[in-house]
This record gives sequence, structure tokens and C-alpha cells, in this order.
Amino acid sequence: MKNDMCKTIKVKVPATTANLGPGFDIFGASLSLYNELEVSLASDPKKAKFIISGEGKKILPKDEKNILWKAMSAVFEELGVKDKYTLKSFNIKLTNNIPLSSGLGSSSAARAAGIVAANKICGNKLSKEEMLKIGIKLEGHPDNIVPAFYGGVCISVRDDNGNFEIVKLPSLKMKAVVCTPGFELATERSRNILPEKYDRKDIVFNGARIALLTKAFCTGDFLLLQKAMQDKLHQPYRAKLIPVMQELISSAVDAGAYGACLSGSGPSMIAFSSAAKAKDISKVMAKVWKKETVPTKLFILDFDNKGLQA
Ligand code: HSE
Repeated sequence: MKNDMCKTIKVKVPATTANLGPGFDIFGASLSLYNELEVSLASDPKKAKFIISGEGKKILPKDEKNILWKAMSAVFEELGVKDKYTLKSFNIKLTNNIPLSSGLGSSSAARAAGIVAANKICGNKLSKEEMLKIGIKLEGHPDNIVPAFYGGVCISVRDDNGNFEIVKLPSLKMKAVVCTPGFELATERSRNILPEKYDRKDIVFNGARIALLTKAFCTGDFLLLQKAMQDKLHQPYRAKLIPVMQELISSAVDAGAYGACLSGSGPSMIAFSSAAKAKDISKVMAKVWKKETVPTKLFILDFDNKGLQA
């Protein structure tokens, strides 16, 4: 086989935070927490290995149900080589640092890594835009997988035909404080709780804040973020699943965060701050969950500007 499969393919893919408050299914940002994938051709299908370490190592399927493999399969199908490969054609090693079902884009990281690896196996026939199209289709929404591919803060603009234009904003120089409670929340459950229709005043409320959020990110005027990260389209509904949401946001802001919101569909919360305040903010957020006897994982991250690396 004359392509990258002569050697091991390595992909490093970032965690992402979606929505950023009002930008439901539009805004997403890439964070400095990474999963790593290695894929090589198995010499003998009977000896093929699928190894997962780190997050989800005990619970993620190591068969055809795995979403990384499904993403690889989607690429093989797109390129008309689906019959050429099975899961047993490869040795796959996945090192996961992104907590599962936590609002940090673990599924889009797996899908993006699988898509890029499969495309490499096939001699890089698909462009980034074509790979992204497969990824968005698998994900069902763009705002995690777009920044996973591109890095930075991205705006995904869908047209009526379902095509996306991606706009990348200037890189952010501040810290992302992530507080992840010790329970998982499936995106599907957190989406199903949302209404089909909204009041006009709520749409206007969010529209104004999206404009403010864009200004804050483009000018570096982070003091706008407290107001700019308010939302009426998803957080109030999801607060039923995360009752301490508002307390977490207020505590983070009181401890000096520029702003805070639910990360993606949750349950992680994310606060934006200066480096000097980040640790204190993480502590107060953990304290809110502690009162509810819920343990937390805390991450003080940077914004990644590179996106997926292969
Ligand atoms: N925009 C999506 C949602 C992101 O909020 O459901 C999921 O991570």
C-alpha cells in the first residue's frame, strides 16, 4: 500500500467548548486539552489491537460501535473503499484526556481524529472542507467539530442548503477555567430538553448578546463578556438538569471571571478569566458542587489556536 499506512498515523485533537453562552449551535472554541490517536495497518487481522487508555477506557466499545471507527468507515464509504477495510485491518491506539459526555467535545474529537486518520490512509483525497462536512453530518451540529478541525474561536454559518461557512475569530489570550462534575450528561438528553419554538424577545435577547460576544472577542474587551455570555435559548432549560448552573456562573463572576456559561450541552461549566484569577475561580466553582456532594475535575486551559494536528 503506497501511502501513509507504511508508518503509524498520529493525530492529536483538541477538546472544544460550544455555544459560549448565546451562540447555540454557532460558536465554538478549541481548548488546550487533547486526545491522541495512533493507527497502523495490522499485519494479521487476528492480531489487530484496539487499545483505549485514559477517559472511557473501561466503557467505550472496542468494536464497530465505536464512534471513532464509525467516522473512519464514513470516510471509507465516501471514497468508495468501504469493502477494502474492516476494523481488524488496523491497530488503533486511543489516548483520551477529554472527559466523556461532559460538554468538552469528546465525541467530536473522536470523530475528527477518525476522519483525518481514514483520509490519510486513503492518501489524503478529501479536503479539510470535505472532511468537515462528514464530521458535521455525524455530529448533527457544527460547533464542536469545526473548532476541533480549525482551532481558535469559530463561527459556523449554515445556509438553507445545509452548507457551512466558517469564520475564525482572532486567537484569545485568556484562561478557560473548566469545572466538570462527576456525572455524565449525553448531548442527546440535553438537546431533547430544549423547546422547538422560542419567543421573539428571547431570540432578540440572544441576538444582541451574540453581537456583543463577537465584539468582545474581536477587540479583546473581555469586560463585555459577563453580559455577552448570557443566554435564553438553551441554558435556562438545561438548568433543570444542572440546578446549580446559575450559582456556578455567579460564583465564578464574583471570583473575578469575565464571564461564565455552560460548556456545550454540559454538564461542565466554563469561565473565562485572566491567568491570575483562574485558580481561585476554579476553587469557588468546585465548592458549589461540593455543597451538593458532587465531586469535580478542574482544568485551567488555554485556547488552542491550531486545531487538529496530524
Ligand atoms: N450546540 C450543541 C448543544 C453543542 O448545545 O447541544 C453540544 O456540545
